[in-house]
Amino acid sequence: MAAECYEKLIGDLKKLRLPAMVEMLDSYTKQAVSSSMSYMDFLSGLVSEEVSYKERRSIQSRIKSAKFPVTKNLDDFDYAFQTSVNRKKLEELSNLRFIDNKENVLFLGPPGVGKTHLSIGLGVKACEAGYKTLFTTLNDMVSTLIASMADNSFATKSRTFTQPSLLIVDEVGYLPVSKEGANFLFQIVAKRYETGSIILTSNKSFADWGEILGDSVIASAILDRLLHHSTVFSIRGDSYRLREKKKLIGGEEK
Ligand SMILES: Nc1ncnc2c1ncn2[C@@H]1O[C@H](COP(=O)(O)OP(=O)(O)OP(=O)(O)O)[C@@H](O)[C@H]1O
Ligand SMILES: [Mg+2]
Repeated sequence: MAAECYEKLIGDLKKLRLPAMVEMLDSYTKQAVSSSMSYMDFLSGLVSEEVSYKERRSIQSRIKSAKFPVTKNLDDFDYAFQTSVNRKKLEELSNLRFIDNKENVLFLGPPGVGKTHLSIGLGVKACEAGYKTLFTTLNDMVSTLIASMADNSFATKSRTFTQPSLLIVDEVGYLPVSKEGANFLFQIVAKRYETGSIILTSNKSFADWGEILGDSVIASAILDRLLHHSTVFSIRGDSYRLREKKKLIGGEEK
């Protein structure tokens, strides 16, 4: 390829924002010369590089805007350790039809049993499949909404929690929620009801939600909407965080 033509092509690809094609052009050209690659194969191979680069980038950007506290994958979940998690049910959820169907998933159980891990695992899958996802703790969501009242940004802030295809609300039950906070949770759940999925984790059983939210009427209205189309996992068992400690204690006892 004449140097002038090459420079122009690189310049045009940059203008069109096709960085993977720019990067792969040389190696593809060499390959095309050394093999009997057709023009069509050459072009389609180069374009595929750009498409997969753009797909990878948009997955990364969805994962970044989901604000996961850490990255967790469903594949790393040890079902042998946490036998109360129904693997088949979880694998069914990982096909993400629950998001298309605007259904909810609730993970209940004591500390360390994998509630957050499984929520993030499903959230990462959702990002990979192109669904806009947001992770928050109940406390952070409520604090953001309460603060938004002070600067009149409630409409915008509440959209943050109603717009994503999947909203993950972690840690319902650890910290007490004010009456105002419970009202905000109700508003978000009501707005998302049958319009967007929620994954929620809680260390408390549903019977205790009236106490957590300081209002049994609001609690049952929230639960009614959350549970109408939902899959519930009640995880029982030991904390994964303490498994090594348990071995240690076991070792000392022998
Ligand atoms: N069955 C499991 N297989 C592999 N890792 C696990 C399993 N269960 C939990 N973990 C890991 O143990 C740690 C604690 O799990 P996680 O944060 O999901 O617990 P949790 O149920 O959300 O607890 P908490 O109620 O205290 O928030 C994480 O690092 C998680 O990746
Ligand atoms: Mg957790």
